[in-house]
Amino acid sequence: MNIPDLLARLTIEEKAALLSGRSAWETAPVDRLGIPSATLTDGPHGLRMQDPAAERFSFDVSLPATCFPTASALGSSWDTALLARVGEALGDESRAADVAVLLGPGVNIKRSPLCGRNFEYLSEDPVVSGILGAALVRGVQSRGVGASVKHFAANNQETDRMRVSAQVDERTLREIYLAAFEHVVTTAKPWTVMAAYNKVNGVHAAQHPWLLTEVLRDEWGFDGVVVSDWGAVCDPVAAVAAGLDLEMPTTNGTSAARLVEAVQAGRLEQAALDRAVTRMLELLDRSAQAGPAEAVDFDRHHALARLAAAESAVLLKNEDAILPLDPEAGPSVAVIGEFARTPRFQGAGSSLVNAVRVDNALDALTEAAGEHLHLTFSPGFTLSGEEDEALLTEAVSAAEEADVAVVFLGLPEGEETEGTDREHIGLPDVQLRLLEAVARANRNTVVVLANGGVVETANWDHHAKAVLEGWLGGQAGGGAIADLLLGRVNPSGKLAETIPLRLQDTPSHLDFPGAEGVVSYGERLYVGYRYYDARDMAVAYPFGHGLSYTAFAYSDLHTTVEGEGEDAVVRLRLTLANTGSVTGKEVVQVYVGDPICSVDRPVRELKAFTKIELAPGEAAPVEFELRARDLSFFHPVHGRWVLESGDFELSVGSSSRDLRLTATVTVEAPPLARPLALESSVGDWLDDPEGGPLLMEAVRTMEGSGIAHDPEILRMVEALPLNRLIAMGGGRLDTTEIDRFLGGRTAGHGA
Ligand code: GLC
Repeated sequence: MNIPDLLARLTIEEKAALLSGRSAWETAPVDRLGIPSATLTDGPHGLRMQDPAAERFSFDVSLPATCFPTASALGSSWDTALLARVGEALGDESRAADVAVLLGPGVNIKRSPLCGRNFEYLSEDPVVSGILGAALVRGVQSRGVGASVKHFAANNQETDRMRVSAQVDERTLREIYLAAFEHVVTTAKPWTVMAAYNKVNGVHAAQHPWLLTEVLRDEWGFDGVVVSDWGAVCDPVAAVAAGLDLEMPTTNGTSAARLVEAVQAGRLEQAALDRAVTRMLELLDRSAQAGPAEAVDFDRHHALARLAAAESAVLLKNEDAILPLDPEAGPSVAVIGEFARTPRFQGAGSSLVNAVRVDNALDALTEAAGEHLHLTFSPGFTLSGEEDEALLTEAVSAAEEADVAVVFLGLPEGEETEGTDREHIGLPDVQLRLLEAVARANRNTVVVLANGGVVETANWDHHAKAVLEGWLGGQAGGGAIADLLLGRVNPSGKLAETIPLRLQDTPSHLDFPGAEGVVSYGERLYVGYRYYDARDMAVAYPFGHGLSYTAFAYSDLHTTVEGEGEDAVVRLRLTLANTGSVTGKEVVQVYVGDPICSVDRPVRELKAFTKIELAPGEAAPVEFELRARDLSFFHPVHGRWVLESGDFELSVGSSSRDLRLTATVTVEAPPLARPLALESSVGDWLDDPEGGPLLMEAVRTMEGSGIAHDPEILRMVEALPLNRLIAMGGGRLDTTEIDRFLGGRTAGHGA
């Protein structure tokens, strides 16, 4: 595609038409010049391609596709290679359907467990979200299909999502809500970024110059297309001026007409229009260069979906090693709960996939039972949630007869959907009643969960010896649960979101979902484990937690520091050993704490992780490398990332609260010269290598004052702003040199 040539030949009307859709899912072609249309469609864990034959738009008339585990499951795998493989499969299915851009992954941070779309997001932590999101993007794009990292930015609730303004301070934005996008954009180079519905500090994300141009393009170097969320554009002229390139879906020409009129009236620069058109042409060109589509092997994708679901499940507890069930021992197992037969495997809304097939755990267990395992099944409850005494009685008697009762619980359909947030995080009462009755009849009770957002466990998990969190495991989730229960797969998932003891303990509880069009992120950086650790609060199950059927030992932590400041590199090396009796995978997590710092920081923050498989008795070295940015914070006054010299606490472990090895390293960095101003304190001036001597000289020449001869007096007034000292000097303090000095150095910093 000769883009400069096309740009020269396109009329302004044709240019404007390229910047919004022709339909719900297609961009507008320019047949005269051979510019094709392109299809963009969902979704993050499976292709939702509107069936062309369908007369009406709906989320459930899409072509069959593989439904992989949703993001809250994949996020719990902590397995970068796995996410890449899922991305490749999604890319294959998208390519085969002639889709140019697949609208995912969602990397919004889980600010509250109530968010209705948390099943579509990876984690409460930006490092997990960024690293796994980038892996998925690389996978999809390796097939010549673009990804769309979404929803940029601070789209952390569904309530009033089209209008609400997320009020977030810049440091919190940078360190928490933008960080995952930054990692994905700078390391995986997504073809598109999707601008969110909501406002950020009062300006719609889809027309936010600071977000879309200053940060995304000028700082992070993004060179792809910014596409709006569907219906997110209020003012197409302001959007294009701010850095948006493609408005979706179609506005039947009204936006194009407004763009043309604005350029002709001089309210929108022609260069801004051409810039967006160029990016659209580059996207179309990239898509056109993708090779021929491979035939999709749905069986292989189903097997991958089963593996992914098994890798993502989190074994929360396992008393008396009741799991895995050993078929050879021939236990009789009462399978209880409708979800064993009718699985909950995905969430509702735009990510809904028309799954090519769906496993259920009951059939998978039955298939695996062989002649040893004796299974019974009792639904226990109806999906509608009505009390049914007969079902309860039947389940209890089945439990009484069995060696083990495995109870399948979870969130019913509709509890997790795009467009609404949850009101609570409890399991339905009918399920809690069932569990209590079953546990009373049989102490050997195991619970398997199916839910996207976390659910409260503290009010019921004492009834179960084991709890296996299966999340929304996709179409093969049922088979994966059977593999895990029977020990064919050893659980290796880790919580990517804290499970709190109760909703009232959550960081955003007093500020979610806001009111009157505003939601204040009053908890600032302290999201998820950052909050519970800062408050030293108990939780049900901590971030990073997940058990295995084997055990791992951590030893021999060695650390080295090379360089200083921006060039600092901290290396960690340790030994991990599998001290149990079966092969297993461990997610080794590295947390960094900066206890002495000029700003407040979380107690510790995840900065690196890796997932390793070890055979019984096997030991292996594990190495990590941390760079300056991993030790830095975003300084609200200086408006940039800062590494402050001092000691850093490195903690390595199996969860954020199961830290096995720690070390303290000292990293040197140049002192942080606060930009001096007349409003700066006397102390800041005295601490400044240049400002200090200047001030002392000025004070020395101030006749009649004792402070010149006793600098200690100055220390007593170090909290005094300099301009106050000058005023108190009544003109006796000669500020000539200070004024000259301030003229050369910016006084203060406009964030
Ligand atoms: C929806 C969602 C977005 C999705 C898009 C297209 O409203 O917010 O995630 O990709 O519109 O369906």
